Amino acid sequence: MENNKRPENMARITTPELANAFIDEQVAAVRAQVGDKKVLLALSGGVDSSVVAALLIKAIGKQLVCVHVNHGLMRKGESEQVVEVFGKQMDANLIYVDASERFLSLLAGVSEPEKKRKIIGNEFIKVFDEEAAKQEGISFLAQGTIYPDILESDGVKAHHNVGGLPKEIGFELVEPVRLLFKDEVRVVGEALGLPHSMVYRQPFPGPGLGVRCLGAITRDRLEALREADAILREEFDKNGLAEKVWQYFIAIPDMKSVGVRDGKRYEGWPAIIRAVNTTDAMTATIEEIPYPLLHHITDRITHEVEGINRVLLDLTPKPIGTIEWE
Ligand code: XMP
Repeated sequence: MENNKRPENMARITTPELANAFIDEQVAAVRAQVGDKKVLLALSGGVDSSVVAALLIKAIGKQLVCVHVNHGLMRKGESEQVVEVFGKQMDANLIYVDASERFLSLLAGVSEPEKKRKIIGNEFIKVFDEEAAKQEGISFLAQGTIYPDILESDGVKAHHNVGGLPKEIGFELVEPVRLLFKDEVRVVGEALGLPHSMVYRQPFPGPGLGVRCLGAITRDRLEALREADAILREEFDKNGLAEKVWQYFIAIPDMKSVGVRDGKRYEGWPAIIRAVNTTDAMTATIEEIPYPLLHHITDRITHEVEGINRVLLDLTPKPIGTIEWE
């Protein structure tokens, strides 16, 4: 049985030296646990699963089989980054599954938020199971469980518990960062050589853009959302907000308004900007984005993104608004 209690004298990992000591210790522990067997990991590209992947690649190389499921609801460039970093740079045993069509077909016409989440969560497990069944000799399942997940069984991830894998999947677990806090996971990730943008990525929900393309998802509105979100992220990056703001994104409702483009009537969707700060995601405050930057982002989104003709700013704290719109 694995130890799930953080020892009271365990030092907070804040420096590369402490991170390297942790990595050496875990590499040895993983090798001892796994031996010459194979380990499967669902690699979303989020901070936790990415750090676990990098750690296990260091420990057991090709005995790790990473599966990245692209559900078609990733942000722009994310799946590509997973393939580039893990498949190419780290030469991992990576299986990339483009399941976009499956997810988008199942979601067509479904407008109820919890139903959408369930479809995405269930289909994710199905795709992952199918890939697992194709692999021979897997004995372990690696997971990016971190200490807050253990502490708050009622926490954010448990509350939204979708996109995760069911406990009964039947493999012994490998959870090398289970005693770490998020900030420590990041320090370890950097020491393992992962890109800064991956290690300091903002939280992103399992159902991805699915809960931001509000109501019944259509491919054209999803594409507009992905492009608008990419512009917002680029501008936050350039203007020093990316590392300051806890979570920021675009949501697009299922409605159109009248506008004018090139002297002609142009009906389009509004893009809603949401940028919040929080420590635990249970309450949140609004980031005050400078007006000149808001004007610039509005200009770019309305000119560069097909289908969007207005940009709005969500000023609602949590409570009363949740962070996501769905
Ligand atoms: P809310 O919208 O409940 O979000 O204020 C709190 C935090 O949780 C994230 N979130 C999710 N994460 N699956 C996830 O893994 C989900 O279904 C989900 N819904 C919301 C949200 O992005 C925010 O960080």
